[in-house]
Formats: sequence, C-alpha cells, structure tokens
Amino acid sequence: MIPTQVLPVRSDHPEPELIARAAAIIRAGGLVAFPTETVYGLGADALNQEAVARIFIAKGRPVYDPLIVHIADAVQLRRVARSVTETARRLAERFWPGPLTLVLPRAEAVPTVVTAGLDTVAVRCPNHPVALALIEASQTPIAAPSANRFGRTSPTTARHVLDDLNGRIELILDGGPTPIGVESTVLDLTRLTPVILRPGGVPAEALEAELGAIAVQEHAPAPETGMPSPGLLDRHYAPKAELRLFIGPTDSILPAMRGEAQVQLAAGRRVGVLVADEDAETFADLDVIGETVGPAADLNAVARRLFGALRALDAQGVEVILARDFGAHGLATAIRDRLRRAADIVVKTSSLE
Ligand code: TXA
Ligand code: MG
Repeated sequence: MIPTQVLPVRSDHPEPELIARAAAIIRAGGLVAFPTETVYGLGADALNQEAVARIFIAKGRPVYDPLIVHIADAVQLRRVARSVTETARRLAERFWPGPLTLVLPRAEAVPTVVTAGLDTVAVRCPNHPVALALIEASQTPIAAPSANRFGRTSPTTARHVLDDLNGRIELILDGGPTPIGVESTVLDLTRLTPVILRPGGVPAEALEAELGAIAVQEHAPAPETGMPSPGLLDRHYAPKAELRLFIGPTDSILPAMRGEAQVQLAAGRRVGVLVADEDAETFADLDVIGETVGPAADLNAVARRLFGALRALDAQGVEVILARDFGAHGLATAIRDRLRRAADIVVKTSSLE
C-alpha cells in the first residue's frame, strides 16, 4: 500500500504552491480529498470518466449513487448544466458559494458515471477557500462525494478521511475541521415544484423564504425500485455501534435515555451517550461514555460536532449509542435526518413529535 499523503494548508488563504500540487493530481486523473464548508469531499476531474470511476472504487460506493459536481463560477455551471432556469439562477445568486446543491438537467460534457446514468446533475459551489482554489487551479469542475468509506459518517476532519481512505487516494488537503459539519441541502429543480431530496446546511425555511412552499422527499424507495436520491436510504450514515435515537420534549427524553442506559449497563454492555453540554449531569453518576456536542440551543455547534462525536464513540468501542434529538427547525432538521439514518431504533417519548 502507498500511504496517502496529508498536506496541511491554510484554510483562509491556501498556499498556491500546495494547491498547484493537488491540482496537478486532479488533472492527471487522480483523487484528492479536500475540505468544504460542510464536510470533506473526495474529488476527481468531473469530466474524466476514468478518474470519476476511481472515486466509486476508493469509497466502496455503489455505482447507482450519483455524485455532486463542484464548481467555482458561472462559466463552469453552464458547462455542466444543459439549462439554467430563472429559479436556479436566483438560488445560485442567493446561496452560492454555500451548502446548497441544485439538481439540474445534465449537460453532454458530464460523463454518465458521475450521475449514475441519470439525465440530471447535482451541482454546487462550495464556500471554502481551499475547495474554490483547488477547482480554479484544476481548471475543471470536480466531482466529489463525502470522503468517507460508503456507509460511514461523513468526515469533518482530515484525520477522519485518513482513517477511512488511507492508501486508497493520492492526497488529503488538511484545512482543519469543516465549519458546518453536515452535508449540503440537495434541492431538485427538475420537477414541477422544487423538492428537497436531502436536508442540509441551508435550512428549508431559508429556501421557502425565497421560493414559497417546497416539497420535502421523506423516504426514498429501495434501490431496486429506482431512487431519486440514494442519500435518503435508511441506515446510510451508520456508526458501527447500535444507535437508539430519542425524539421528544427534552424533559421526557432525558429520563427515558437515563432509564435505557441503566438497562443496557445492567446487561453488561458498553454504553455511549450523545447529548448536549447541559445534559451531561443527567448521566454523571452512570458508567457511560459521554460525547457532548454543544449547548442544545446552539445548532451550529451541534451540527459541527455531530459526526465527530459519532466517530469518537465508535473509536471508544461502545456497543450501543443513545443519542438525543435537537428538534425540527433550521439546522436541527438536517441533524435529525442524519441521526435517524444512523439509528437502528427511534424512541418517541411523545406522540406529538
Ligand atoms: O456537502 C456536501 O454535499 C458534500 C460536500 C463534499 O460537497 N458532498 C456530499 O456528497 O455529501 P455525497 O455524494 O455524499 O451526497 C450526494 C447526494 C446523495 O444523496 C446523492 O444521491 C445526491 O446528492 N445526488 C447526486 N446527484 C444527484 C442527482 N442527479 N439527482 C438526485 N440526487 C443526486
Ligand atoms: Mg456521503
């Protein structure tokens, strides 16, 4: 195995000579992991079919799961999308660079391996100096899924990428932890009305303020029946441990989690809890492994720390993770979505939720 090289770069003003090295790898058909504002991406030249095929092999990703094409400017948008409607233009102007992925009609130039044979293409302009510099220096759009092994949580640090992909890719640009921590919102603009295929960094409320009512795709059908967005597959963002997600009012989920922790501990299992900072005292007298993700009121902090906390619990060898929910407004919708997909069991402590 040839170990993957990790190259630290300044996240605010990346060193041009380091970006040039990474861009040379992209231009030669190689694979480079790089930070975006959401999570680390695993990039290849989007217009090079063989390079893109290598992404699927490195990740162990099924070929029916299409990739997002990352662009740096409007010129590249016209290269990858066959048509850009007025709505698409407006959203791009308002939310790019940023965590919004638009599904648009695919241009001929984009090989079908990128789009899993679909006639649509998912496009976004990332809001991260390293990602933008890499795309510009490569002089090509970059196809990139999250830089994790298929089925694992998305990486928010270069270390997470290395843990999953060492020896499978040429280079990781290490620009530090990613500022948002959950993936982009995927919005399909190829239907009669816009549909959110995956909640993410741009809250539905912000899109509704721009577009009026939009639809949200709740569950995708199983792979063999064709799927609009495989990111919607249940059990997609799974940690190794069994995960139980508790949804309901805070004053009812905490006692329920505590009770479950006691039952699991009595059964001799190694128990992890994923909670808000202020919840820690509820479990202080129990022999559990705790990961706190910030004050519950600070959803930006929770999103930023969520995937790292799941990986940290896995690394400590817990057999079961009890995780709390953070609500269903703003970023909490994306947080709930990822935890729900990671969960084996969802416990609702109130019929109202
Ligand atoms: O924040 C993000 O979106 C990160 C960073 C690296 O940009 N990328 C990411 O990529 O999360 P990935 O591959 O893990 O998720 C891409 C999602 C999947 O749910 C995929 O099914 C959906 O976008 N997607 C891609 N192309 C599509 C298309 N043509 N139609 C519908 N959904 C599509
Ligand atoms: Mg992914």
